[in-house]
Amino acid sequence: MDVKKEAFELTEKLIEMRRQLHEIPEIAYEEVKTSAYIADKLSELGIEIKTGIAKTGVVGILKGNGKKTIALRADIDALPVTEANNVEYKSKHAGNMHACGHDAHMSMLLGTAMILSKFKEHLKGQVKFIFQPSEESLPGGAKQMIEEGVLDNPKVDAIFGLHCDPTIQTGKIGYKTGALMAFTSEFIILLQGKGGHAADPSNSIDPIIMASDVIQELQKIPSRWVNPIEPVVVTIGSIHGGTTFNIIPEEIELKGTVRLLNTELIEKVKGMINGILKGITSIYGGKYNFNFVAGYPVLVNNKEFTLFMQRIIKGLFGEENAVEIDKPLMVGEDFAYYLQKVPGTFLLLGTKNEEKGSFFPWHHPHFNIDEDALPIGTALFAKCAIEFLK
Ligand code: NI
Repeated sequence: MDVKKEAFELTEKLIEMRRQLHEIPEIAYEEVKTSAYIADKLSELGIEIKTGIAKTGVVGILKGNGKKTIALRADIDALPVTEANNVEYKSKHAGNMHACGHDAHMSMLLGTAMILSKFKEHLKGQVKFIFQPSEESLPGGAKQMIEEGVLDNPKVDAIFGLHCDPTIQTGKIGYKTGALMAFTSEFIILLQGKGGHAADPSNSIDPIIMASDVIQELQKIPSRWVNPIEPVVVTIGSIHGGTTFNIIPEEIELKGTVRLLNTELIEKVKGMINGILKGITSIYGGKYNFNFVAGYPVLVNNKEFTLFMQRIIKGLFGEENAVEIDKPLMVGEDFAYYLQKVPGTFLLLGTKNEEKGSFFPWHHPHFNIDEDALPIGTALFAKCAIEFLK
């Protein structure tokens, strides 16, 4: 069978499914309509399904003739973003949007199920279609699905997933062996001072001044305290506190994230943040509270499996469309959890098209994908399953 031809013949259907899913974006663990949509489509194909895994996850199992099992994964959650695109398939759920392309991931995986179920007598093993909730919110749907046994019965031998990438031209596919994405975390810092009149700072303990010192010092972690060869990001993404011009507030809350690739540095960086907070609050006589929550692990692609996919990309779409990613990205992905358990790889599917306006970054209210990429991703999923099970 010609998988590429099958995928391209399915283009209209892929676009239709992607747009239908785009209209009903639901955030983490609220993907009720979305998972019902997926379950319906898989059932129509006669694929055995399990629903309610990690609340709103759906798994389809297609049984072929053979012992090996490959898992193909799509994430299904949307984001609390108000869509700014004026398209006919615009989000119908006010305040929510598929601003990360997970609608496309679902459509491609459903398209793959359509192709593979048509040719299941030729399949030399099992294919597990994992539709996973809550990629965008900690602790991540992947972790919970694994705990609920998604990689067992039948035991999964390898896993493959991909993500739309608005920085890569449509038609091209990015691959990388080893670390592709970073360890992520979320932290909240509460700086407590002593409120008072703005005109009388010496009788107050100003948490705004403490916050400004803390933010400055935190930037010295990557630049001065960690070996410059080690990628570390410390970002404060939110500052809250105070009410008006002439009042020194009681407290300030900072929210931020640490991203890094060398997990041996996690405890070290946490210790540095604590040290900075301790030092600065003690200078001013204030107090602090530091709450650090580890997020997703570093996403590490298996070398052999990645090179196997590289050959598939080249075979389907030519040497010129297989793009080696030379540097890891500092974003995170809970696909990392699957890769801690079974070998596999995560690819980046180019969806950038300047003319169609699909170049806005992930999570942007104008994010969109070039739908010409849909049959490409579908062909990759389907070919991966067939070749791996051979
Ligand atoms: Ni995403």
